[in-house]
Amino acid sequence: MTAPSLSSALAGRKVLLIIGGGIAAYKALEVIRLLSKAGAETMAVLTKAGAEFVTPMSLAALTGHPVRQDLFMPDDETAMGHIELSRWADLVVVAPATAGLIAKAANGMADDLASTTLLATDKKVLLAPAMNVRMWLHPAVQANVARLKGFDGYQGMAVVGPDDGVMACGEFGPGRMAEPPVILDAIARLLAGQDGRPLTGRTAVVTAGPTFEPIDPVRGLTNRSSGKQGYAVAAALAELGAQVTLISGPVALDAPVGVTRVWVEAATEMKAAVDAALPADIAVMSAAVADWRVDGVASGKIKKAPGGPPSLALIENPDILAGVSAPGPRRPKLVVGFAAETSDLAANARAKLSRKGCDWIVGNDVSDEVFGSDGNAVTLFTRNGDEPWPRQSKTQVARKLAQRIADHFKA
Ligand code: CTP
Repeated sequence: MTAPSLSSALAGRKVLLIIGGGIAAYKALEVIRLLSKAGAETMAVLTKAGAEFVTPMSLAALTGHPVRQDLFMPDDETAMGHIELSRWADLVVVAPATAGLIAKAANGMADDLASTTLLATDKKVLLAPAMNVRMWLHPAVQANVARLKGFDGYQGMAVVGPDDGVMACGEFGPGRMAEPPVILDAIARLLAGQDGRPLTGRTAVVTAGPTFEPIDPVRGLTNRSSGKQGYAVAAALAELGAQVTLISGPVALDAPVGVTRVWVEAATEMKAAVDAALPADIAVMSAAVADWRVDGVASGKIKKAPGGPPSLALIENPDILAGVSAPGPRRPKLVVGFAAETSDLAANARAKLSRKGCDWIVGNDVSDEVFGSDGNAVTLFTRNGDEPWPRQSKTQVARKLAQRIADHFKA
């Protein structure tokens, strides 16, 4: 049964249950009942084959929500689509996960609501496979399951069961769907962050890239930040299970998998986006925010004039890091800043640590080639001392930082 500490992980949580076509589908009804008893809310997606085994009526009665069966429901504008459904949920569970559903998910096939939702989700997915023993042991199914568990860069799907036993078809062996209390326990563990990923259940806001401060509609002030380090931090935090909002200035990078990206240009927009993303447990401010913006941005293109170039009056931008670090109920538990310095790294980084009020500073010497490069040599400055890290890739720096953050929360 679910341990008391784990069952509390279910209260108020949202589970999207995808029900495939198999005799074990009847057990999905019991999973819903147990979830609801533990205080969790469930919505159900029923595949065409699933509807041969359980009725939409019983699912609607147990979940208290209409059951979604079709990818396209032109008559029902209020129904959630595959994207909204997967965003609504804290966790997606496939029970029973048939060989067909597993094959589709493993190969990126999306031809119905269930498979499309599985491809579109940014949430952890738990599979409860159920099929005939020969099917389960077939190398094709095993290869598909292995593939789903280990998609590089993705969080990977979790699998519960199948159990050994006599099957509905009379054969014996692994293939029976895990029992509902065992599935409930697996759901609770995933929701409680006991899935081996130390930041599951934590939220993070990360800033990255340069800001662009307009002069007029066609010109602006910016800097050479590529955003690579901040994007790598966002990806590394998400890999450890955190729910990450990445506030990005203009860069040419793809959003990391599972990360919600918010595009901004000017520092004032970045500040507003960060404020909107709070509260969060973790803030990592790696953006190269322009210190100044132009006072009185011209509404039309400034033309060359005989009197010579225009003079630009600059005003100071808000310090986003200092604002996030300021004491208050919305202050993240851990605030990490970056310091890019061309001289006196330690002295400057330490001064920033106290001036801005953040908890850690990742300092790097940018006199060496850092902007746009894939490598970085940084020192982590905390209130307990300095920790120089050897030159390594930005991805490795990010993973090390994310692990340090996870250790901090564990402690
Ligand atoms: N930062 C910020 N908002 C600003 C300026 C900086 O959030 N307006 C953050 C950066 O994202 C980084 C840290 O503050 O995490 C240090 O940025 P840096 O540009 O090195 O510091 P400055 O405050 O600009 O200090 P200086 O120009 O004196 O080096």
